[in-house]
Amino acid sequence: MVRLGFISLALLSACTGEIESENLKGLTPQEQVAQTLWVDKALPVLSGKCTMCHDGSMPNIGYIAGADDLMKRDTLISYVPRIVNMGAPQSSRILTKGDHSATGGGPALDATQASDILSWIVAERDARPQADVIRTMQAPMMVCTTPPCPVNVVDISGLGAAGSVEFTISQVGADSYFTDLKIKAGADGLYVEHPLLESWPTGATDPKPDPLDRFFAIQQNIEPNMELVLGTASVGGFNSTDPISLRFDVVEKKRP
Ligand code: HEC
Repeated sequence: MVRLGFISLALLSACTGEIESENLKGLTPQEQVAQTLWVDKALPVLSGKCTMCHDGSMPNIGYIAGADDLMKRDTLISYVPRIVNMGAPQSSRILTKGDHSATGGGPALDATQASDILSWIVAERDARPQADVIRTMQAPMMVCTTPPCPVNVVDISGLGAAGSVEFTISQVGADSYFTDLKIKAGADGLYVEHPLLESWPTGATDPKPDPLDRFFAIQQNIEPNMELVLGTASVGGFNSTDPISLRFDVVEKKRP
């Protein structure tokens, strides 16, 4: 390919292929893969179906706002609450949201579109230094067959501040049904972000995340010795006899 100088490149702004390859200069090979997947796969899907509402033109949902392709990407990656989940890409809210036209929103992604966006998220994750994963030990479950149900207590004290996650679990068809799900703070209180339920099928080296990533938006202070009630959750495809772990983005003592 002919290498163009900066001035001629600016004049030839219609020549996107060239601009793209210029933009890849200085990136690691993994970053190049991720950026190419963003520009060629993920963004076209989002532009066709999602950006008309999520480009910042509507308040509070500007997940894909930005003056150019890469700024849109940066907004989406850093948006809080986390729409893109690097810790468990396939459970990212952007993939699992589905049809939300009933609430003034958009259509579902089809399987190909979802898999294009997923490949991009996986590539972005692979392009980053492996963050330390904040995760409890895998805890064996006491499964409820008849009430009163035994309460499972997963200690999170090793993660940054004293506390636990508590719930009962029963099997309903192919899914696990969690009730009385709560996060309890110890004497220092707790600050938590983004709890994610994970199941460990026998022999698995990676856990299976909650496919809905339903607690993605939680960023919460909990007063000392108090609890945050999460309620019930029917988690598709979790076998209740498999061990459970909890993964977080942040676990700290209560923030001032
Ligand atoms: C017609 C406008 C519109 C379009 C098109 C649209 N959305 Fe939305 N979106 C909304 C509105 C309004 C909300 C807030 C209400 C809600 O959560 O349903 C929202 C919320 C969301 C959320 C918030 C997550 C949550 O549960 O809080 C996600 C993720 C999302 N949209 C993804 C998408 C994706 C992916 C597309 C394209 C396939 C898309 N949206 C297309 C209007 C739109």
